[in-house]
Amino acid sequence: MARTMTRTTTTADEAPPHAPEDAGQPPSLFPPYRSTVDRSPRQPLIEIPQTLTERTGPAENLMGPARADLTTQHAGVPIGQRIVVSGRVLDEQRRPVASTVMEIWQANAAGRYIHVADQWNAPIDPNFTGAGLVVTDAEGRYQYTTIRPGAYPWGNHENAWRPAHIHLSLLGPAFATRLVTQMYFPDDPLIEIDPIAGAVPEPYRQRMVARFDIATTRASFALGYLFDVVLRGHAATPFEDRHE
Ligand SMILES: [Fe+2]
Repeated sequence: MARTMTRTTTTADEAPPHAPEDAGQPPSLFPPYRSTVDRSPRQPLIEIPQTLTERTGPAENLMGPARADLTTQHAGVPIGQRIVVSGRVLDEQRRPVASTVMEIWQANAAGRYIHVADQWNAPIDPNFTGAGLVVTDAEGRYQYTTIRPGAYPWGNHENAWRPAHIHLSLLGPAFATRLVTQMYFPDDPLIEIDPIAGAVPEPYRQRMVARFDIATTRASFALGYLFDVVLRGHAATPFEDRHE
């Protein structure tokens, strides 16, 4: 999968001058994140020529209707802090990427996913699935409403906890430009001790952290966060194609 796509612009200007374009991308092998030891490539990567299949992408109407509100997918209201996440999807020239699909998946407020593989002792919320889909407008803007996810334990090491995060997949203009990443929340003390986020060096790690924004916050309804995604180039959002 191409690792040339990316994400947030919030701290792009803090990157060291003349840093290589992929400086903010996590390595395939990062031993503190244990499963990379087994799954990282042992051989040099093989460049696969791109054909029409990679240079084109799915049209909006092939992805089904937008599901921009994850809090209204069931009969009741999900438990947790309601939030609105908004931002722009940009290319390497900071131009807006219009009509591109962003897929969203996350744990509930207790930190549990609706998935058979997630069996830790936290409650399922019958009013929250944790899956959404939005399409950017002509200016590359997107917005969705959801519940702030909880932290959850995982088996990487003793007492390992993932920081609160929302998984994102952006297709960009074509399949070859797909970016998979995670959005974190500001002031979360788990970020700096998380081996997945830690695989992305600073200052690039901050590109994966949303900003609280009072202008996006809605009175008596939801807290607001801003999160821009840069698909590629020097300001690219780091690629986090992780299962955890
Ligand atoms: Fe996760």
